[in-house]
Amino acid sequence: MAELQIIVRDRFGQEARQTVTVEILRPPVVEPARLEGVGIEPQRVVRPRRRVLLGQILLEAAIVNQAQLQLALEEQRKTGERLGNIVLSMGLGTQDGIAAAIAQQLGIEFIRLADSAPDEAALLTVPEAIARRNQVIPIRERDRDLVVGMVDPLDIVAVDDLRRLTGFNIVPAVITLDDFHRALGQYPSMAGTVSEVIEEILPSQFVEEESAEVLRAVATEGPIIRLANLMILQAIRARASDIHIEPQEQRVRVRQRVDGVLYPTMTSPRHIQLALVSRLKIMANLNIAERRVPQDGRIELKVDGRPVDLRVSTIPTVWGEKVVMRVLDKSGAFVGVDKLGLQPEDRQRFEAIIGKPHGVVLLMGPTGCGKTTTLYAILNRLNTPQVNIMTIEDPVEYQMPGISQVQVNPLPGLTFVRGLRAFLRQDPDIIMVGEIRDDETAHIAVQAALTGHLVLSTLHTNDTAGAVSRLASMGVEPFLMASSMVGLIAQRLVRVLCERCREPYEPSDDVLARLSLARPATPLTFYRPVGCAYCNHIGYKGRIGIFEILPVDATIKPLIAHNAPAGEIRAAAIAAGMRTLQDDAVSKVINGTTSLEEALRVVLVEGGPMSLKRPAAPRQAAAPSLSDARGQV
Ligand SMILES: Nc1ncnc2c1ncn2[C@@H]1O[C@H](COP(=O)(O)OP(=O)(O)OP(=O)(O)O)[C@@H](O)[C@H]1O
Ligand SMILES: [Mg+2]
Ligand SMILES: [Zn+2]
Repeated sequence: MAELQIIVRDRFGQEARQTVTVEILRPPVVEPARLEGVGIEPQRVVRPRRRVLLGQILLEAAIVNQAQLQLALEEQRKTGERLGNIVLSMGLGTQDGIAAAIAQQLGIEFIRLADSAPDEAALLTVPEAIARRNQVIPIRERDRDLVVGMVDPLDIVAVDDLRRLTGFNIVPAVITLDDFHRALGQYPSMAGTVSEVIEEILPSQFVEEESAEVLRAVATEGPIIRLANLMILQAIRARASDIHIEPQEQRVRVRQRVDGVLYPTMTSPRHIQLALVSRLKIMANLNIAERRVPQDGRIELKVDGRPVDLRVSTIPTVWGEKVVMRVLDKSGAFVGVDKLGLQPEDRQRFEAIIGKPHGVVLLMGPTGCGKTTTLYAILNRLNTPQVNIMTIEDPVEYQMPGISQVQVNPLPGLTFVRGLRAFLRQDPDIIMVGEIRDDETAHIAVQAALTGHLVLSTLHTNDTAGAVSRLASMGVEPFLMASSMVGLIAQRLVRVLCERCREPYEPSDDVLARLSLARPATPLTFYRPVGCAYCNHIGYKGRIGIFEILPVDATIKPLIAHNAPAGEIRAAAIAAGMRTLQDDAVSKVINGTTSLEEALRVVLVEGGPMSLKRPAAPRQAAAPSLSDARGQV
């Protein structure tokens, strides 16, 4: 409680003093930054008050604790990144959680754009460029009000700008960054723009064998620059991980990989190819005159205000140079442990394994299955001021504050082995080795674990039990393996069905039988992909991990020590309750996260017991595990 003296003026202009008692419930909200006349570009102004405020909201919502907030604020001072994003990248909270907390504290609406799409009319009130710069999406009009979804509703400068621009009274609501990016894609489509740009590029301007000067000239013409920019922008908004520009006999084809699958996005007349490829090569600082050997380069740009790196690779094909650009989006780098896709049972095993003070933890799976992402989620979880974490990687993919990351560099002789040896003199607690590729690395990793360090690494094998034979083939003694290993984790990624358009159906008895599932009392609902504007007509949106977690415990250790075959280790693990990759995939079909087709595509081995091509083996027992009837993979 506080007493305040106020001066009131009645409608005749008479002044009077009054004392009022006020109860201060929480710190004063938003104090408008004064910008008029200071000559600073509005979006560049640093607003310390806002930081404190969002920090406070996050504290009160118990999304961060005091120490974590300090770390985040420090990081913000260094990078200038939005506090919300930093907190997310520290693996704390979820986008939804943070947005909900902000909404509750400010007493405003949290709008999930998945449930309510913006009105087209509302969208048109704010030009896309301004929406993008301020990370806002106009959602609906109500008389003189415009409800605007804002990633950062504390951004009063943006609210002011929007009010002036639209003439509406702005009613801020909270949206997540993901929803913001998706909604941007709902602005009147760019497809039309791309074809318009292509039409501006005349065939007569291009002959096949151009000199470097001519190439440089055409590659710096407006339409080509716009085409290249649009192509990149469109791909990044679609969350593509790779962009392929592929010359063919008649046309140039552009495809992009989204959630692990390639989709064609445009084919254009062949006369564009040379100019487009030259443009991309200029952007990547490559030699445009050289078209006979492969080249590598890099493009750094900002897309929708986020820094994005493109790793560019060219290779001469019979129809001309093919360009592939890998998108390295640093902002989407970390996934917190709770967002990896671990089911509750697995989550417990996972936590138990990474909570061990020393030993080897290995992640298994083919290229691109999310190993590095999971490793970083683990490091992020273990990253406290009390421990020394050192990583050696080839290359260092993400940068994490508070840990020492070393990049392998073979030319001067900094190999995995040499780095690891040096680590042991650097007083580490936790060591992460990007990948165990050779015998010597395997040996040192095991040694380090036996001398009291937690060693995290990845192996290129399919399942958990396969790791043992792989290490054995690298010459690691079975008894050393048995005593050093604490956990094996196999992983894949499945695409997540788009919640807006997925279509429910009841699986047939036949399908259930083949999945070794008994028909349940209440019918199961599976979903199949359909495709809508929201998911770019793919039917899926994003991916999630599926896991197989094998704690190397007292039952498993003797089997490893005695060189038991992988099948035996696997059977013992399943008997002890391990959920297999297949179990996890099926459970994610049953809960509607993914489709049966997708699960089959990712984990179910052709012709294996769970393939839909063959009847399932009879179930052995009424055990709740889904694994028993499926056995070996
Ligand atoms: N649990 C997850 N949920 C959603 N997306 C994920 C998850 N894990 C990884 N991804 C995404 O999948 C892609 C590949 O992940 P990552 O680089 O971790 O795989 P990897 O197994 O380390 O690949 P490589 O074999 O090339 O090293 C990345 O774009 C990443 O963002
Ligand atoms: Mg990796
Ligand atoms: Zn959809």
